Amino acid sequence: MKTKYLYINTIGCQMNVYDSEQIANGLKYLQYEMTPFIEKADLIIVNTCAIREKAEQKVFSFLGRLAGLKKKKPDLIIGVGGCVAQQEGAKILERVPYLDLVFGTHAIDRLPDAIQTISSKKCRIVDTQMSNQIKELDFSVNGYDTGDVTRFVTIMQGCDNYCTYCVVPYVRGRETSRDPEKIIDEIRRLVETGAREVTLLGQNVNSYGIKEGLLTFPELLRRVNDVDGLLRIRFTTSHPKDLSENLIHAFKDLDKLCHHIHLPIQSGSNRILKRMNRKYTREIYLEKVEKLRNTCPDIAITSDIIVGFPGETRMDFQETLDLIGMVEFDGLFAFKYSDRPNASAARFSNKILEDEKKQRLQQVLDLQDQITTRKNKTLKDSIQSVLVEGFSKKQNQINTPDSSPNAQWTGRTSTNKIVNFYNNDGTDSCNKNVMGRLVNVRILKTFSHSLWGETNGKEPACFGLRGEKSYVA
Ligand code: 5AD
Ligand code: SF4
Repeated sequence: MKTKYLYINTIGCQMNVYDSEQIANGLKYLQYEMTPFIEKADLIIVNTCAIREKAEQKVFSFLGRLAGLKKKKPDLIIGVGGCVAQQEGAKILERVPYLDLVFGTHAIDRLPDAIQTISSKKCRIVDTQMSNQIKELDFSVNGYDTGDVTRFVTIMQGCDNYCTYCVVPYVRGRETSRDPEKIIDEIRRLVETGAREVTLLGQNVNSYGIKEGLLTFPELLRRVNDVDGLLRIRFTTSHPKDLSENLIHAFKDLDKLCHHIHLPIQSGSNRILKRMNRKYTREIYLEKVEKLRNTCPDIAITSDIIVGFPGETRMDFQETLDLIGMVEFDGLFAFKYSDRPNASAARFSNKILEDEKKQRLQQVLDLQDQITTRKNKTLKDSIQSVLVEGFSKKQNQINTPDSSPNAQWTGRTSTNKIVNFYNNDGTDSCNKNVMGRLVNVRILKTFSHSLWGETNGKEPACFGLRGEKSYVA
């Protein structure tokens, strides 16, 4: 079979990044190879996100740009997958006449068959069938070999929480956990291809395995912690209502578990939390934050905030600002509320005007910026253990020969702060390549979104790279 080229545009969360890797993996069997050049592609897939209106708009503007390509190359196949595909189904085919395929969030395993049918029969396909079982893909165990140091592993799909603003339960279906053996197997394979850090993904990882009577999430973490060659474990996302004592203790007990938790609060007002159906109060949230910090004093806590939820008064909003000031998050993702199809808040009254939402968003961002800048400043002159992910963005732009002592590397601390650094370590082996290694970096400058420093020379912690046997276990 002749090699064909596949271009994937991934919009949205880490789960979509993982799904796109699975898509690429499955299509390898049809001789599709990934290309970064869209003009070269025989097949273009856009993996979509429906979480907020803005993400959905991005999908249609990208599809709009493909009309010319399809005209030039009539055999080009164009497919839309992911959450917007699940939500809109056949409507997208109507809206985009040159589109060949719409496949939903539970149709990834059927994608290769659909592509073959479209190639041979020149037809259009919509597959948005959902199931309550995880279809383990044969190829998922092989792990798409990106060679990246940090990789994602989905451990569960769907969500049963029905927060009133959220589309996820409708587009990703019921909460379903993967078999732990399959997860561990996959992580082992990823380590064999160079991964040193995995992020376990799910909409609410804290309730992993409960419905199915599998391992609990802390038990799963323990199993992952035992995987040889893996240096770090992260996970996202956690629902505050399900954050257990056992999970809090895992931050102290498991040496590979990074000291960072993403714990979305959404609002600091109990009235709004209730309308959001979040099932916790600000007091419960603050109590959990205190427990986390008592157990693991340097833990970084990040969160999500929605501003302008229907009916959010200035006073409710002030409570959110107060809470942000009290917790002093290490980072925040803040969003203007937007109506989503099916989500019940779309039918709530007292919608907030766009200008007001904009203003509130800016206030949150400004406050958080001050907090992160202040917190990051306290790290000046400290020594941080950094897992090196590759060259920094700046390095990739300036094209300094990679082996030069001035090459700038990038990685993250256990607390998930980005560190760009020069590797001034005296030893040759470290100068050549530190990717995939844990190195100690002295922090010399701090910014609001990153830190900058140098390896400190005396304390290199150079561990083996891809396939070498010397790693910290
Ligand atoms: N409007 C705005 N933000 C939303 N989020 C989810 N749904 C909406 C919505 N309808 C935000 C929440 C969630 C994050 C992933 O996206 O903060 O935690
Ligand atoms: Fe959406 Fe709430 Fe489920 Fe998160 S927990 S995916 S916000 S319904």
